[in-house]
Amino acid sequence: MIKKAVLPVAGLGTRFLPATKASPKEMLPILDKPIIQYAVEESQKVGITDFLFITGKHKRAIEDHFDKATELEERLIKTGKDELLKKINSFENLNFAYIRQKEPKGLGDAILCAKPFIFEEAFAVILSDDVIDPDYSVLKDMIDIYKDKKAPVVALEEVSNEEVSRYGIVAGEKIGEDCYLIRDMIEKPEKSKAPSNLAIIGRYILTPSIFKYLEVLEPGKGGEIQLTDALRALLKETPIYGYRIKCQRYDAGEKFGYLKTIIYFALRAPEISDDFRKFLKDQLSCI
Ligand code: UTP
Repeated sequence: MIKKAVLPVAGLGTRFLPATKASPKEMLPILDKPIIQYAVEESQKVGITDFLFITGKHKRAIEDHFDKATELEERLIKTGKDELLKKINSFENLNFAYIRQKEPKGLGDAILCAKPFIFEEAFAVILSDDVIDPDYSVLKDMIDIYKDKKAPVVALEEVSNEEVSRYGIVAGEKIGEDCYLIRDMIEKPEKSKAPSNLAIIGRYILTPSIFKYLEVLEPGKGGEIQLTDALRALLKETPIYGYRIKCQRYDAGEKFGYLKTIIYFALRAPEISDDFRKFLKDQLSCI
């Protein structure tokens, strides 16, 4: 069983400046929950109980969010607000740990910070910017592939030719309905050099074997220590599998993706969906 998840949140969030100048982008709300809570709930659904956040400057609000809020709880009890109390207490059986990445040197460096927390077991990596509806079974399907193959698994999504230069892109062969055996991968290739349109998105099942490659990795694209480069080196030692997601994934780390995420969840939130649908129709009809 996979019990541990690593959530790197040390990035600078420059695409969301000035909102992210002093507060974490992971705390931007999607309706009444911050982005990071969706990632925790998605992991909770597959039995993950131990969370390690790789944090950086200005990220204290994330620690506070998952901590006990004694005064607030007492107030909610006194005023009989049981529903709200339940909402803020939904993490009681989970464990949260925090390690600071000294500098934002890249996703690969952030994952390397998790080494003391991992020991010998496989673990999930969740990039919380990539929001996936927790009702879809992406992590469960990836864990099933891991259990079957005993090898790392990355989540894949088909992107347009224009978008390949923003992602790690894989070359691989389809070996099942949604499963690929990966032959090679390249971080942020030029359009003409991309080996396919299958992009690695923010869900991984990794094994501790990744750390020895991360430890010796030189900076890659954008001068950052890239997780894709370490995975590429790891391919020499073990097969790596790709799981092509069947649902929508939203990049809440940039403005348009963030708006799409809010609209997706608002249209599915029973308490506001009817009014919101009507509002959207009215707005669209007057422009
Ligand atoms: P992004 O590529 O989205 O970078 O990182 P970013 O800094 O968060 O945002 P922009 O591009 O400046 O707007 C992908 C994930 O890796 C984490 C980020 O927090 C995000 O979850 N990350 C990135 C780190 O934890 N450390 C790093 O050094 C870089």
